[in-house]
Amino acid sequence: MTPMSSLLYFLFLLLLTPPPVAGKSIIEPCSSSDACNALVGYSLYADLKVSEVAALFQVDPLSLLAANAGDLSAPGAADFILPAGTLLRVPVVCACSGGIRRSVSVHYLTRPADTIAAVAGEVYGGLVSGDQIREANGISGGGEVDAGWNLAVPLPCTCFNNSDDLLPAIYLSYVVRAGDTAAQIAAAHSTTVTDILNANAMGSPSVNPGDILAIPLPACASAFPRYAADYGLIAANGSFAITAGHCVQCSCGPADLQLYCAPAALAVSCASMQCANSDLMLGSSTARPAGGGCSVTSCSYGGFVNGSIATVLSTSLQPKCPGPRELPALSLPPATLARRPSLSPSPAPAAAGAVPAGGGFPGLSPAEGPAGSFAGNGAGAVTGGWRWFAGVVLLRLVLELLLP
Ligand SMILES: *[C@@H]1O[C@H](CO)[C@@H](O)[C@H](O)[C@H]1NC(C)=O
Ligand SMILES: *[C@@H]1O[C@H](CO)[C@@H](O)[C@H](O)[C@H]1NC(C)=O
Ligand SMILES: *[C@@H]1O[C@H](CO)[C@@H](O)[C@H](O)[C@H]1NC(C)=O
Repeated sequence: MTPMSSLLYFLFLLLLTPPPVAGKSIIEPCSSSDACNALVGYSLYADLKVSEVAALFQVDPLSLLAANAGDLSAPGAADFILPAGTLLRVPVVCACSGGIRRSVSVHYLTRPADTIAAVAGEVYGGLVSGDQIREANGISGGGEVDAGWNLAVPLPCTCFNNSDDLLPAIYLSYVVRAGDTAAQIAAAHSTTVTDILNANAMGSPSVNPGDILAIPLPACASAFPRYAADYGLIAANGSFAITAGHCVQCSCGPADLQLYCAPAALAVSCASMQCANSDLMLGSSTARPAGGGCSVTSCSYGGFVNGSIATVLSTSLQPKCPGPRELPALSLPPATLARRPSLSPSPAPAAAGAVPAGGGFPGLSPAEGPAGSFAGNGAGAVTGGWRWFAGVVLLRLVLELLLP
């Protein structure tokens, strides 16, 4: 080969590996305006603080930790750094928009040198395609964006009535990775290949990298009244949910799929969580043997209603007296995470007006300095996409040399 043709061959190879684009995904039609709670599976593109991941998706850092069985009560838990590649479950509100289910609340504040392809494929890990971002934001043409744009990032999600085989389920949008098989994905999520095939209307269990699967996760559903602020709260088996202004923590599993809510051990001031006409606190119960079984009186959580914590006192006869309550094992213990001192504890909006409602601060670490700074681990945003980008630039140079 001549030097020129080997250079072209090299560039050709570079171009064969474009950034990941979203592959097939199930689309759930919808008509009502109601929403459900769903999860997206997100693989970190760089070492990121819990609060940075939360800001990317505009979720409460404690809710993010709770959904991943992280230790909420560890001081400064939001400042813990999760290593690149960590697979997290991010809670999203799955709305109905334009006749299909999707999450419409996530926005991303662009930084210098961002491209739409990198935002889609790297920052959001292939959960969305560049075309979907362009369409959602009315952007025509190329992938270049200016810093400071507030891009809507539509994310795939499904509700399917929060049930699977008539049992409560929360749906996780999972981006298939190279080497994944349907059987492995099912096993890793405590579900079956059949359930995945059904949920995704797939005829065969073949999956391709970049496909987005809706995975039903066994879950504990709540039965709060419709007027409760946390109506529809649901937690996947093995996880937690935080609600009622960080005052109540609910958990699911491991022994049964009954949602169990108790006062959260967080340093916030909370109203009384004692059941009326009883000395039982939320989440506690008394048991005493009675007529061939056990009479259990428990004080349980009834939802966050009008800013107050509703409690429900109930007595039931159970076959045997329950033992001590077991909570799901923590899977993100702080010992495995590094801690980075926070320079500015409260994120100060650097680009006022570009920050979406809800106070999120997309795409930027509060501790990393001004918007657009690539200092520290923020540089991860560009490292993955460089190869493709460099390929395009080189090809353009070569073409300009060859075609005077
Ligand atoms: C949705 O689930 C609820 C209970 O989980 C059930 O009563 C209802 O019939 C379901 N609706 C549909 C359309 O499947
Ligand atoms: C819930 O998770 C526990 C372990 O975390 C497991 O033993 C149990 O079988 C799971 N339950 C369901 C219904 O998947
Ligand atoms: C919430 O509070 C308002 C005013 O205080 C009251 O009108 C409304 O009925 C309350 N709603 C519920 C569900 O208690």
